[in-house]
Amino acid sequence: MRTLLVTGGAGFIGANFVHYMLTRESNDRIIVYDKLTYAGRRENLAAVADHPRFLFVQGDICEMAQVRATVEQYNVDTIVNFAAESHVDRSILDPDAFVKTDVYGVYVLCEVVKQMGLARLHHVSTDEVYGPIAEGKFREDDRFMPTSPYAASKASGELIALSYYRTYGLPLTITRGVNTYGPYQYPEKAIPLFITNAIDDIPLPLYGNGLQVRDRLYVTDHASAIAFVLEHGKPGEAYNIAADMEKTNLEVAQRIVQALGKPAALIQFVKDRPAHDVRYALATEKLTALGWQASVSFEEGFERTVRWYQENENWWRPIKSGDWLDYYRKQYTER
Ligand code: NAD
Ligand code: DAU
Repeated sequence: MRTLLVTGGAGFIGANFVHYMLTRESNDRIIVYDKLTYAGRRENLAAVADHPRFLFVQGDICEMAQVRATVEQYNVDTIVNFAAESHVDRSILDPDAFVKTDVYGVYVLCEVVKQMGLARLHHVSTDEVYGPIAEGKFREDDRFMPTSPYAASKASGELIALSYYRTYGLPLTITRGVNTYGPYQYPEKAIPLFITNAIDDIPLPLYGNGLQVRDRLYVTDHASAIAFVLEHGKPGEAYNIAADMEKTNLEVAQRIVQALGKPAALIQFVKDRPAHDVRYALATEKLTALGWQASVSFEEGFERTVRWYQENENWWRPIKSGDWLDYYRKQYTER
């Protein structure tokens, strides 16, 4: 039996990972440790709140004493780190929290794993550390060339973690996932923003010419890949996660209005994101050679996602009428 401290487990991918782990055959105990920023939400974990192998602790990964105390109290042997400031546009408006959580916070987790002799730190990273690529795909040993403050913080956090593996032999694994979508994604990210706007007949703001390409991964596949690397990954190694489903933003926006029976005129081209990365793409042979593969097609994942937002207005309406509105105004009307 393992005891996993899932940092950032009340956010989008973290909560889906927790659901995934608690519905498969295993004795793993899951302790979610989350600061509950605007993106972290207890309701994302409501379905597992009473599960006998689940516990929630509110806490900040930048607070070493609190992380240590939690590890000690619950006999944690493995940390899986999802905690991050994760939205590129917010990092452009104000990078401060990104440097704190995505760099210093990762250092704290490395120190705790080292000091307390834990069995594993799995760090969840992103394709954005490599930067954009016009053609071809990045492999795990390619150089980092991040663009935004978000991507640079994620790259820096990873470099700190890798230095702990090289210098102290920290039992570290890393995954770098592509653009992920599905239930519980905060409606500042393109897909849930576009779906919820379209439901309400609000314009879908498409940056620049809308021809930027992202590889889209359904969230349960991202979760299953992380669980797979926890079991089969080799310490010191990073693994790309992707499902080879590249789409332009324009195509995604068009599919959303079609799926919801809304007019194409709802799609509005707006000012581009500064230094907008034109395409990310990852080679996944390293992970697939170990035996992992994605199981949800884009068509299936997209349909499930649209339906989830249609059926769960009680989840996103309070968000979109709360603090979110201040951010939305700043992002789309004042810049
Ligand atoms: P999210 O913003 O939905 O969730 C982040 C979670 O971290 C929230 O629950 C938040 O409360 C928590 N958190 C933030 N700062 C914290 C702190 N200091 N201490 C403790 N908890 C804190 O993010 P997400 O989209 O679920 O992404 C999860 C991870 O996956 C991130 O590390 C992100 O970089 C990475 N990732 C995301 C994607 C994607 O497309 N969403 C793709 C690849 C990698
Ligand atoms: O690729 C992995 C990354 O994917 C993760 O590391 C990040 O945490 C996650 O936020 C995501 O980053 P992106 O910038 O790719 O996701 P976002 O949903 O913000 O934007 C997707 C694309 O859509 C991007 O090209 C920008 C564009 N976009 C986004 C928004 C919010 C728009 O055209 N209009 C919008 O309103």
